[in-house]
Amino acid sequence: MALFITFEGIEGCGKSTQLCLVAEQLRQQGYGVLTTREPGGCAIAEQIRALLLHPDHDILVPKAELLLYAAARAQHVEQIIRPALQQGQLVLCDRFCDATLAYQGYARQLEIAAIEHLNHYACSGLQPDLTFWLDLPVHIGLQRARQRNEDDALQHEQRFEQQDRQFHEQVRQGYLQLHQQQPERILRIDATGTVAEVTKRIATLLTSRLHAAS
Ligand SMILES: Nc1ncnc2c1ncn2[C@@H]1O[C@H](COP(=O)(O)OP(=O)(O)O)[C@@H](O)[C@H]1O
Ligand SMILES: [Mg+2]
Repeated sequence: MALFITFEGIEGCGKSTQLCLVAEQLRQQGYGVLTTREPGGCAIAEQIRALLLHPDHDILVPKAELLLYAAARAQHVEQIIRPALQQGQLVLCDRFCDATLAYQGYARQLEIAAIEHLNHYACSGLQPDLTFWLDLPVHIGLQRARQRNEDDALQHEQRFEQQDRQFHEQVRQGYLQLHQQQPERILRIDATGTVAEVTKRIATLLTSRLHAAS
């Protein structure tokens, strides 16, 4: 079954953790599953990711950042996502167009209409069928992300984590607005509690959508 499912939310909310667990459950149920992420997902887009997330690149101006995301997305959609959907796979993607609206639109305050247009252009109209917005208070997300980065000794992908709390609050509010505008597609998941509790919340909603779609 072809379905395009994305995971969204602030840094540290559990997107990567949950995507991996949900993918595993779906594979056990016999579904063909492709997991991927943005920015990135293919060699060219991963190179753009390295540019975007490099901590020394604070000089990157918001419009250049927006266009790099769009370029990475265009490549990722045509090379990876669309072919997988055409083969009938479930595609699970860690962040997608909604992240650009939340970060570059609501938080960095670039023009929303321009971003919507660019998103549409970059993916030739492809939209997620379903989006899980993992909603978590900012201070908890940042705490989790900080802990993760210490554990991994990750130094190079911390550009967004370094930004102030206010910015992450704006991102969260952006996701809230997107959810309110498209409640059928963007499902809010309470991302507090244990990893297993959050997985269960996602799995319950996903199972009913998969049954509805089959
Ligand atoms: N429900 C949870 N409770 C506690 N820690 C969590 C939970 N979900 C994820 N984590 C941990 O928090 C950190 C951030 O999770 P991650 O999946 O990397 O978030 P994201 O991809 O949204 O930035 C990781 O170290 C992860 O193991
Ligand atoms: Mg992640």
